[in-house]
Amino acid sequence: MITMLRSLMILMSVVLVPVAAAAGDAAAGAKKTVTCIACHGKDGISIAPNYPNLACQKEQYLIKSIKAYKSGARTEPMMKPMVASLSDTDIANIAAYFSTLNCK
Ligand code: HEC
Repeated sequence: MITMLRSLMILMSVVLVPVAAAAGDAAAGAKKTVTCIACHGKDGISIAPNYPNLACQKEQYLIKSIKAYKSGARTEPMMKPMVASLSDTDIANIAAYFSTLNCK
């Protein structure tokens, strides 16, 4: 029984660790949003009707869309230059930051 429990715990740590490691650092992300807030707003609530809010957007969706602008899969003349120089870590951190902002 103890052995079974132990193997279960090992299995769980193997399964859970990659998820925890994938989570971005919101505080580091905040520092990379200086340019973004010009359009998407200081609190992630955009300053104009044609700019989307980013506050409380799902983290995985933010990562996916930023990468899509970077790769060119999603084309938007305004967004591509904004994200061109971001690393995967920057993108994960920025996504973590905007997803934690309150949109209510
Ligand atoms: C010059 C204004 C401007 C700046 C600066 C800007 N964006 Fe955007 N952003 C836009 C516009 C306009 C769209 C909508 C584009 C579209 O229709 O695909 C957009 C879309 C997005 C989306 C997709 C939102 C969704 O709901 O699909 C994300 C994510 C995003 N921007 C992140 C960022 C990040 C991160 C930065 C800073 C590194 C940034 N933006 C800087 C104008 C801007």
